[in-house]
Amino acid sequence: MTARLVVLASGSGSNLQALIDAAADGRLDARIVGVYVNRRNAYACTRAAEAGIACEFVPMGPFRERFDDPRAAREAYDADLAGRVARHDPDAVVLAGWMHVFTASFLDRFPGRVVNLHPALPGAFPGAHAIDDAWEAHERDGLDRTGVMVHLVPDEGVDDGPVLASREVPILAGDDRTTLEERIHAVEHELLVETVAAFLAP
Ligand code: GRF
Repeated sequence: MTARLVVLASGSGSNLQALIDAAADGRLDARIVGVYVNRRNAYACTRAAEAGIACEFVPMGPFRERFDDPRAAREAYDADLAGRVARHDPDAVVLAGWMHVFTASFLDRFPGRVVNLHPALPGAFPGAHAIDDAWEAHERDGLDRTGVMVHLVPDEGVDDGPVLASREVPILAGDDRTTLEERIHAVEHELLVETVAAFLAP
């Protein structure tokens, strides 16, 4: 039975594209049944449309207007988005460049099935600036490697869930910030496909 994937993204969607390509050429036995973005201009939606996959933009703004308390707004948004995602009956929800920390209002709808990609090694650089942090550590302290990980998201912890897979990425003497980021993204695209395929395997 082909697994059903929902993918959430906030930006370019190059990791979504890696999943789309892998599902198309058989490296990933799964069907991407829905894509959701939280940024209006997320190119990930264009990639989904080009692959014939439904993509929906679900902004946080209306929830901020309706709730004075920021936490209540987040929980209401998360519950709303979870309802949309749940209608696809996903075997896994993949956060591929998704820039929003979920509360239990989302996560508890998909126990053990939310998977996040993060461009750093376990415990190294949590948060939204992992690549910058690694580059600065290289320039300041001579850090010669960083990496990528794919992990489960059981709770609101940021980039600290149980690790499914990780892979080192060397920082080379001739690198600049751009060449390092390119190398990291290339490893992300590989590791995400391999890890999601293994996670979904019966
Ligand atoms: C990736 O490094 C991802 O890990 C991070 O955002 C970047 C954008 O990825 N969270 P994509 O091109 O939007 O998939």
